[in-house]
Amino acid sequence: MTETPVIEVDHLTKKFGSFTAVDDVSFDIHAGEIFGFLGPNGAGKSTTIRSLLDLIRPTSGACRMFGLDSRRDAVEIHRRIGFLPSDLALYPNLTGRQTVQYLGGIRGGVDWGRVDALAERLDADLTRKVGEYSSGNRQKLGIIQAFMHAPEAVVLDEPITGLDPLVQLEFHTMLREMADAGGTVFLSSHTISEVERVADRVGFIRRGHLIAVERMSELQDKALRRITLEFGAEVPVAAFQGIEGVHEASAEGTTVTAQYEGSMAPLLTVATQHDVLSVSSASVDLDEIFLEFYRDEVVAAGDDPDEPGERGAESEAVAERA
Ligand SMILES: Nc1ncnc2c1ncn2[C@@H]1O[C@H](COP(=O)(O)OP(=O)(O)O)[C@@H](O)[C@H]1O
Ligand SMILES: [Mg+2]
Repeated sequence: MTETPVIEVDHLTKKFGSFTAVDDVSFDIHAGEIFGFLGPNGAGKSTTIRSLLDLIRPTSGACRMFGLDSRRDAVEIHRRIGFLPSDLALYPNLTGRQTVQYLGGIRGGVDWGRVDALAERLDADLTRKVGEYSSGNRQKLGIIQAFMHAPEAVVLDEPITGLDPLVQLEFHTMLREMADAGGTVFLSSHTISEVERVADRVGFIRRGHLIAVERMSELQDKALRRITLEFGAEVPVAAFQGIEGVHEASAEGTTVTAQYEGSMAPLLTVATQHDVLSVSSASVDLDEIFLEFYRDEVVAAGDDPDEPGERGAESEAVAERA
């Protein structure tokens, strides 16, 4: 593909003090694509998005949109995109309509007929004060402001939070329509089912590392039962031979390739005992792969005394298809 990607994240690293929230992450998103950015709470999704949109400064690496530099050309980029942050700040005393008028006035170029159509599609009530809104209604307002100027690309940080299932469906239809019309959708999510339903490609982020980027259709291709594992150091291939379901395993440097049947769980169990950096595969059961990717996070639920509520919710979300 020679066309310039709409979104480029290029060796992005972001540290907060000595803590590395995003570690050397690179991926591209092309026009017409819905890219799902999947990872549990704290994985580094919002930090990646904030860096992409110049809301925080990367420690190293660069991001581009439309071939423009995220930092130098931030104003032009923001003009051309819609953004739904994970922590949308709204004035509680404005009504929904006043909020959209205020945000649209700052931005300019808003088609008010489009705003009404969006509100109708999402079943959003714009007459009440935002302070009285449910979380779902706040999120609808956030979606309306992200789409109101018919942007070329949207960056959506966990957009379906609080939306009821019917509205989620309508919203996902909107995303597909946008991508079919040549627009670009960058969608972060911590729920397996959302990404599976809507994304063309999915990037799996875990503890600041992008561990895999896969085309959804390939993940879903039942015929493929091949897995490639990248490690931080050489791993004895013997470790992968004789595992239940594994027919063939070979190693070249720090890369291990295997053919397997049935569940990939035993293989991943062995892999995670070593310094595994990335996994690429396709399997009969998507849910199983996803759960295995994030097994540590699910097991760790409740272990974190700082965020018991969030972690609890996370384990549910990651495990919801189990
Ligand atoms: N401003 C900050 N200062 C310190 N740590 C932060 C800051 N923002 C995020 N982090 C940490 O970075 C990690 C990734 O956070 P984030 O990108 O928000 O994850 P996600 O959006 O995937 O839930 C988390 O451990 C979080 O606590
Ligand atoms: Mg986040």
